Parts: sequence; C-alpha cells; structure tokens
Amino acid sequence: MKKILIFFFVTLLVTCHGNILNHDDDHGSNNQIFPLRVKSGSGGHYIEEVSCASWRLGIEAHNIINWKTIPKECEKYIGNYMLGDQYRADSKAVNREGYFYAKTLNITTGKDIWVFDIDETSLSNLPYYAKHGFGVEPYNDTLFNQWVDLGTAPALPESKKLYNKLLSLGIKIAFLTGRPLKQKEITAKNLRRAGFKKWEKLILKNTTIYHGKTAVTYKSSERKKLEEGGYRIVGNIGDQWSDILGTNTGERTFKLPDPLYYIA
Ligand SMILES: *[C@@H]1O[C@H](CO)[C@@H](O)[C@H](O)[C@H]1NC(C)=O
Ligand SMILES: *[C@@H]1O[C@H](CO)[C@@H](O)[C@H](O)[C@H]1NC(C)=O
Ligand SMILES: *[C@@H]1O[C@H](CO)[C@@H](O)[C@H](O)[C@H]1NC(C)=O
Repeated sequence: MKKILIFFFVTLLVTCHGNILNHDDDHGSNNQIFPLRVKSGSGGHYIEEVSCASWRLGIEAHNIINWKTIPKECEKYIGNYMLGDQYRADSKAVNREGYFYAKTLNITTGKDIWVFDIDETSLSNLPYYAKHGFGVEPYNDTLFNQWVDLGTAPALPESKKLYNKLLSLGIKIAFLTGRPLKQKEITAKNLRRAGFKKWEKLILKNTTIYHGKTAVTYKSSERKKLEEGGYRIVGNIGDQWSDILGTNTGERTFKLPDPLYYIA
C-alpha cells in the first residue's frame, strides 16, 4: 500500500511537471522554470537574479549601450563578480589572447606600439567602486578625482603580465587615457608605483582641444597622431568600447570586462 502511494505521488509530480513544460511551450513563457540558479565564479556563490547575468552579457557585447548606472538589483551580483574569481579569470582570458597574438608578430622596426587604456585596464579602481556601490551610485566627479589624486590604484595583474611580455617582445607601450592633463603627474606616479615603469607615450586628454568631444573622437584622434608619427599600432586594449571603436584602432583590439561604468 505504501509503495503504491509513493508511486502515485511520483506519477503526480511527473505529470504536473510535464504540464508546466507543455504550458510553457504553448504560451512561450518560461516564468515557471526561471529564474535559474546561476553559479558565478568558482567561489560557489549562487545568484538567483539570472537577469543580471544577461545584463552583464548585454553590456559587454555592446548590445546595451549608453547606460548611466548598473541596475540597482544587480549590485550584489556585480560586486560578487568583481571581487570573486570570475572578473580575474575573464581579464586573464583577454590578456592571454593578446599575448598569443603578439607572439606571432614580426617586431623589427622599433616603431611597433601597443595602446593601453589606463582605468580598469592597466590600473584598477576597484577599491573605489567597492565603496561606491559597484556602479549603482551615479558617477561623482569630485569623489572619483579625490581617489585618482591619491595615486594608489593597484595594477590589474593580468594586464601587467601582458605589458611585461609585450616589452620583452620589443613592443613599445602607449598609455592613452581619458584622464585630464592636469592628472598627468599623479598618473605617471601611480603607474610606476603599480609596476608599469616604462612607456613610449603617456597621453592624457587636453580638455581644451577635446571639450565636449566623445572618448571615441578623442582616442581616435590621438591614435591617428601616433600613426602620423610613424608608429604601427599592433594592438589596442581597453575596458570600454570607446577604447577600441572609431578610426586608427590598431591591427587588433582587445576588450576587457567592465560592468561598472560606460563611457561613450
Ligand atoms: C620581418 O621584418 C623584417 C624587416 O621589416 C623583414 O626583413 C623580414 O623579412 C620579416 N620577417 C617575416 C617572417 O615576415
Ligand atoms: C559628490 O560627492 C560630494 C561629497 O560627498 C557631494 O558633496 C556632492 O554633492 C556630490 N556631487 C554630486 C553631483 O552628486
Ligand atoms: C592644449 O591644447 C591647446 C589648444 O591647442 C594648447 O594651446 C595647449 O597648450 C594644450 N595644453 C597642453 C598642456 O598641452
């Protein structure tokens, strides 16, 4: 009797489950099955908001553009991503590809150069963003510049590895950043402190020339000047699409992850 009861119970479950699936097929809605539990990183932390993972894919693929702040409900998800293993693993995957590509190049002229963005590419502002909601809080120029002026941003370790390998291959380095010229001294100091001790060019934004211009315009124009100066831009790496879109982008571009902010 007990066995029969259990059998009926199991059958009932299977039937109900089947009905849910059929119901979904009929109506094209997956609400009964989702939200899926998404495993993030190797820390074994489970996140129920699958929509945050889709949001992150959307911004990294540049399908979602011109966003001002991250969705409020994704603060924990993005915080976990940034502080966990996955951000570092993703950064490593990008920089490794950069190195595999660089190894194939014929570097002989002394004019081969690789463009590095600075924030969230060479240096990491994660200590700042961890205190400011991982991009949930609207950007505050005053507070962010106070942080920059400390000159204590750590290196993004995976990018520093690529930087060192490029130097050993004989490739020159150009840092190209949206930071304003008035931050040149502290930026140079911060780069050296973080272990980036050599560069061919350190280009910051002349806000007189580029006032009101987008990052795409500014960076394209500065890369053009590099090429006019005889350099061959063999590679270009940044965390923003505006680092790698536009003109004179370089022979190959590499997009690092950054779900914290968007710069047009
Ligand atoms: C590498 O570049 C040098 C100088 O431009 C050239 O002489 C040489 O043939 C190139 N080697 C290859 C494998 O392309
Ligand atoms: C930026 O932060 C400062 C210090 O907390 C605050 O006084 C100021 O109002 C903020 N600016 C904006 C635009 O929110
Ligand atoms: C910025 O550009 C303006 C206009 O071309 C120029 O006069 C000025 O010297 C530049 N500033 C610096 C610090 O190079």
